[in-house]
Amino acid sequence: MSWMVDRPLNQFALPRGWAGRLAGWVMARTNGTEVAEVLGVLGPVRGLAVLEVGFGPGLLCKALTRADAVVTGVDPSAVMLRQARRRAPAARLRLGSAAETGGANGEFELVVSMNNLPMWPDLDAALDELHRVIRPGGRLVLAWHGGTEPTAMARGMLLPDTATERVLAELRARFARAELAKTAHCEIFAADR
Ligand SMILES: C[S@@+](CC[C@H](N)C(=O)[O-])C[C@H]1O[C@@H](n2cnc3c(N)ncnc32)[C@H](O)[C@@H]1O
Repeated sequence: MSWMVDRPLNQFALPRGWAGRLAGWVMARTNGTEVAEVLGVLGPVRGLAVLEVGFGPGLLCKALTRADAVVTGVDPSAVMLRQARRRAPAARLRLGSAAETGGANGEFELVVSMNNLPMWPDLDAALDELHRVIRPGGRLVLAWHGGTEPTAMARGMLLPDTATERVLAELRARFARAELAKTAHCEIFAADR
């Protein structure tokens, strides 16, 4: 269950067992465009302490380490942890979740999450935790399917307006500034600590 979805999470939302491995394989082959768009929004990350939340098969982790960020990642799926460790061996990856990152206060300059915001069980607990681990002056970037040219698959997963408004309101309650932007295929919430 999540703060948005009133039914058990599927294999893409919380991969488990052989079907979860297959879901990771599919995501690794279909999410490259979104990874590139998220990287474009992040800008230069060289030397930054970055936490990725919900790394899945590890495409964004790999891109961040290649761009010389110092990458830590958390994901609750053991199947995804194995796949991402193979794909991004330079990242420090562990089991965890948006609400329980295991990070120290102000440890990260940038926290980024791609395609898992609606899967978090408790939005408030997650945003409290991510605010805690971002140092003052740091940034939170949360990406989800959509954008100005959503794919046919993404059109079935768009955030309802009520959810978008809630995320923005909860971000503005915690962060100095928060806004929603769109790339071609992503909705991007960005907040400054
Ligand atoms: C649809 S996949 C996206 C994976 C990857 N970010 C991508 O875009 O290719 C969702 C991921 O979020 C993870 N996830 C589920 N619940 C989570 C939570 N509460 N906190 C952090 N990640 C979570 C899942 O294990 C899964 O790896």
